[in-house]
Amino acid sequence: MTDFRKSTVYQIYPRSFYDTNGDGFGDLRGVTAKLDYIKELGVDYIWMTPFFVSPQYDNGYDVEDYYNIDPRYGTMEDFEELSREAEKRGIKLMLDMVFNHTSSNHEWFQKALAGDEKYKNFYIFKKGKEDGSAPTNWESKFGGNAWEYVPEMDEYYLHLFHVKQPDLNWDNPEVREEVKKIVRFWMNKGVKGFRFDVVNLISKDKYEDDYEGDGRRFYTDGPNIHKYLKELNEGSFGQDAEIITVGEMSSTSMENCFGYAGADSNELSMVFSFHHLKVDFMGNEKWVLVPVDFMKLKNILFDWQVGMSENNAWNAVFWCNHDQPRPVSRFGDEEKYWKESAKMLATLVHGLRGTPYIYQGEELGMTNTDFTKIDQFKDVESLNYYEILQQKGLSKEDALRIIQIHSRDNGRTPVQWNSEEHGGFTTGTPWIEVNNNYKKVNAESQIHDEASIFSYYKKLVQLRKEVDVIAYGDIKPLDAKHPSVFAYERTYENEKLIVVCNFYKNEVVWDSKMNLEGYETLLSNYSEQNIENGKITLKPYEAIMLHLQ
Ligand code: GLC
Ligand code: CA
Repeated sequence: MTDFRKSTVYQIYPRSFYDTNGDGFGDLRGVTAKLDYIKELGVDYIWMTPFFVSPQYDNGYDVEDYYNIDPRYGTMEDFEELSREAEKRGIKLMLDMVFNHTSSNHEWFQKALAGDEKYKNFYIFKKGKEDGSAPTNWESKFGGNAWEYVPEMDEYYLHLFHVKQPDLNWDNPEVREEVKKIVRFWMNKGVKGFRFDVVNLISKDKYEDDYEGDGRRFYTDGPNIHKYLKELNEGSFGQDAEIITVGEMSSTSMENCFGYAGADSNELSMVFSFHHLKVDFMGNEKWVLVPVDFMKLKNILFDWQVGMSENNAWNAVFWCNHDQPRPVSRFGDEEKYWKESAKMLATLVHGLRGTPYIYQGEELGMTNTDFTKIDQFKDVESLNYYEILQQKGLSKEDALRIIQIHSRDNGRTPVQWNSEEHGGFTTGTPWIEVNNNYKKVNAESQIHDEASIFSYYKKLVQLRKEVDVIAYGDIKPLDAKHPSVFAYERTYENEKLIVVCNFYKNEVVWDSKMNLEGYETLLSNYSEQNIENGKITLKPYEAIMLHLQ
């Protein structure tokens, strides 16, 4: 069985990873071409976001055909080659399964629209209210009402995301069978991991107006969710003990995650939760400018770490993905302490209890976009909210400022491979512009540099394999109320690990109130540490891992 506690996953967003044919669009051959780079980093899995046939309204999260590769990304032969080449290097593939919804181009939805009752029941169609308005007041995650009216049917269908992403009806057993079939198809191709997109939204509860929120309480962690996941497990990936799974859990609760990712619950191996990435929101409202609330960040991460550990459930730990801004820009200092803060953030997350995920470019310290005009942005969510914010009365400049900070495109600009044009991502015109800092921030300059952010990530990946306490230890928060230091202790049998991170640029003396004799420095982002009588003087963004065995 795969020990996912000792593993690290590397996330690839193929369209922005590497383009091999000059069309400006990353492709599967691009992933194959860079496998040696990934191998060098030392990770065990590659999670690739969807490359199935799709009209790309939501960059592939709108799947038209789950059994075929979108020609923009390549062919099934390209996939098989990638799979073989990855295997040669000991790297396993994890695919991204989008089953809360399909594309409206999917033949099931097309048949539904054509009046086929069987397929109509694959989706969620409802009559409007008496006055003809939408069945409920739920909001789509991408803005606007979550229901779309179909005049020929005089009914609405539900789309929690884009209007081109109709939600599937998981209460229909035929849908659940189809989904299992798709997973088994990819298992037969040798796939050893699956990520399930917004999977805690698949079991809808009551279709009622929400007077307290945007509707999410009626479809998040719904009444049959655990039953459906167990069934999916049993009917597909659960048949192969080597397969690991991760569920993307939108606005979930910890109690539910004890089930989703419990060691004995036969649902998933682990979960992504996002509460710690809403610490610069106003509640659930992302489209505002609010500084990072460090105490909130700590409290949330500690609560989850301890809660999941006590309940024998497993977290995926991460700062970013293709939906998030770049961590060094968001939580660190992308200017003066670029390297130090990127490494500090890496230490903090890789020392936690859970399986770490590295998102492409994170290991290079890639930063948010430097876009200054709205038409440089491509993401449908950003473009929708740019309009919505103006409708709410914001000026164009203020709306743009908010988009610049929170846009998902911050994580979607091309990987910066070298200092050539477009960062070496493509010989053509990239689908989204590369960040102009590619001459400073790129892979080529970091791979052979021992002091680079890349080399630091490499060490973290390696340490997880070598040092049991990192993979298996319990966790205890240290000095949880400290206003600028993030510190915790991990314990496994006779081994201890202490992780101490200065989250800010001001030097600080942190009193561990412990006897640190006998501890050795396993890793730090500075070459010298100042530790005396249990007190550690932390330089700007300094991070230290201390080890006792
Ligand atoms: C997930 C994906 C995101 C996508 C959404 C709808 O949150 O990560 O990119 O837009 O689901 O599928
Ligand atoms: Ca291409």
